[in-house]
Amino acid sequence: MMTEQEIREHLRRIAYPGSQRDIVSLGLVGDIVTRANEVIVHLRPSSASDEVLRHLAGRIVSLLSAVPGIGQVTVHRGRAQGTGVQPAPVAPPPQQPLPGVQCVVAVASGKGGVGKSTVAVNLSLALKALDNRVGLLDADIYGPSIPLMMGIEATPRAGQDRKIYPVEKYGVSLISMGFFLDDKSPVIWRGPIVMSIVRQFLRDVLWGELDYLVVDLPPGTGDAALTLAQEIPLNGGIVVTTPQDVALLDVKRGIAMFRQVNVPILGVIENMSYYVCPNCGEREDLFGHGGAGKTGLEILGEIPLVEDVRKGGDTGKPLVVQHPDHPIAQIFRQIALRVIEKTALRQ
Ligand SMILES: Nc1ncnc2c1ncn2[C@@H]1O[C@H](COP(=O)(O)OP(=O)(O)OP(=O)(O)O)[C@@H](O)[C@H]1O
Ligand SMILES: [Mg+2]
Repeated sequence: MMTEQEIREHLRRIAYPGSQRDIVSLGLVGDIVTRANEVIVHLRPSSASDEVLRHLAGRIVSLLSAVPGIGQVTVHRGRAQGTGVQPAPVAPPPQQPLPGVQCVVAVASGKGGVGKSTVAVNLSLALKALDNRVGLLDADIYGPSIPLMMGIEATPRAGQDRKIYPVEKYGVSLISMGFFLDDKSPVIWRGPIVMSIVRQFLRDVLWGELDYLVVDLPPGTGDAALTLAQEIPLNGGIVVTTPQDVALLDVKRGIAMFRQVNVPILGVIENMSYYVCPNCGEREDLFGHGGAGKTGLEILGEIPLVEDVRKGGDTGKPLVVQHPDHPIAQIFRQIALRVIEKTALRQ
């Protein structure tokens, strides 16, 4: 197990929001208690708002949980008590459910480019194919790609009182950050701006009655993803990964992010998991296999690397609608069924 000093050194990588200085040098980190592989970090009383404290707690949990040898991480506000009375953990706020929306499922990934948006799109369409009313929220502020993948050129209609109607495509209602950004938007969105955009997004969109809202979170487990996971009332989280062994650490970060905001994890989807030779039909494990299984979470599905999946995304005709009989469309429907089963159990 690491020493308190080593843990403190790790925490120096966390900057205080809006400042160049880190939380250790600012004196925000108080006692650090370690028990077996569990770490409890106490934040000193400060003038930081609840919002900032929650944000920092999230950063601490995701950073430390990814350190080998550290298991459970908890953040408390105030000093470690000798009296046996533990201060309450810094918990995320109770969120208002979205009116008319039964179940919100977020898709996250520890790093970019693993096929998160592809999964979010095809999962939404598979849920739709199973007779659900489905919405898709493209919350990736850094690279909103879902309108392209869904072949959408229209922009949303404004209703009364500054409300926004989602755009419909293939029977799914879509809202994307991309609808509201133009080329002049700053590439690096600052945390508070992200938060206010998301709040507006969530409250002003007239989703109507939905059984499922699928959310494509920004890649990684940095501020943007964590903020969104805190801001949206999520019923379940899915982590998308690739099969390489090195991806395991990224998956752990994704898991830690959902745990920090108390979102039950439905499971992991291993994308580009294997390759099926188009000539001989033989399955090849290009990148090794089974990495995602080491997380101890359910593998909701393994999706092979297939040209038709990429083409579907590039042409705006996702595989699940373009080729509903394709074996991969079936895999997506199986994943959707499992998501339905697991979220139904939780409600
Ligand atoms: N199973 C697959 N087989 C073939 N190509 C795939 C597969 N999954 C995703 N791709 C392709 O890989 C690229 C990246 O996928 P995608 O945009 O879904 O990833 P992402 O994790 O959302 O990326 P970002 O981090 O940029 O948001 C896309 O061109 C997509 O079509
Ligand atoms: Mg994406």
